[in-house]
Amino acid sequence: MEVRVRYYYAEHEDAYRRLQQEGMTQWSELFEEGRAADFGAFPNREFLEHALRCLDLPATSEVDVLEYGCGTGPAACFLAARGFRVDAIDLIPQAITVARRFAAERGADVRFSVQDVCALADEPVRKQYDVIVDSYCLQSIVTDADRGRLFAAVRARLRDEGYYLVSTAMYDAERVYEPGFRYDPTTGICYEEAPYAASRQDMIEIDGTSYLPHRRHLQPMALRDELESAGFHVVSQEGLLKGDVVARC
Ligand SMILES: C[S@@+](CC[C@H](N)C(=O)[O-])C[C@H]1O[C@@H](n2cnc3c(N)ncnc32)[C@H](O)[C@@H]1O
Repeated sequence: MEVRVRYYYAEHEDAYRRLQQEGMTQWSELFEEGRAADFGAFPNREFLEHALRCLDLPATSEVDVLEYGCGTGPAACFLAARGFRVDAIDLIPQAITVARRFAAERGADVRFSVQDVCALADEPVRKQYDVIVDSYCLQSIVTDADRGRLFAAVRARLRDEGYYLVSTAMYDAERVYEPGFRYDPTTGICYEEAPYAASRQDMIEIDGTSYLPHRRHLQPMALRDELESAGFHVVSQEGLLKGDVVARC
């Protein structure tokens, strides 16, 4: 399977190209016009700070953490600065190039690599972790099959006593889907009209128009049920839209 043609590749590749051109530090700055670049102010920082205070973990220098979908690495660097041993992966090579530079500038010891987290499901497990973190990657992994592979990859790499910390975008009654996007309330999938040159691999047709999966915006119970069906036990589900989850195997 050629990862560069999957529905979740092109948008993220374009975003990191723009981020580099415009001197931004992280993904969230792309969507908040006029916001000053601030690497330390990443969206799920408060949740991670709160969750890490409550978890029953060994001394931080003995805790192995994996972040997938790390982008330019704001959360990974925050975790490393706290003393955790951090591995961080992202699909997009440009994101990892920038992440390595930012980490080096801040003296943060993070082992970054380029990796599709869904593809990890097919790879041998080389290391297990005490904590696995998702800082807003999950909503971009849209189809049941891909999410199943992601969850299998996480389960295989989480130690028995480990924690899975997820921050994900959720269904929001206030959200307006712009023209060209279509939300299916039965699945929580938002589809995006496929550009003319898009790969056919993930395309579906609705009313004669071709669409690609774009986001998964679930309601709180649906996210909880999905995680429980995937073999996790949801310990807590917080945040305004209930997208901040602590789960265990
Ligand atoms: C919303 S951005 C968040 C980035 C970062 N966590 C942050 O807070 O700035 C989602 C990230 O997930 C990455 N991503 C999407 N699909 C992925 C996959 N299949 N494997 C690994 N990373 C993926 C994207 O490249 C992007 O960096």
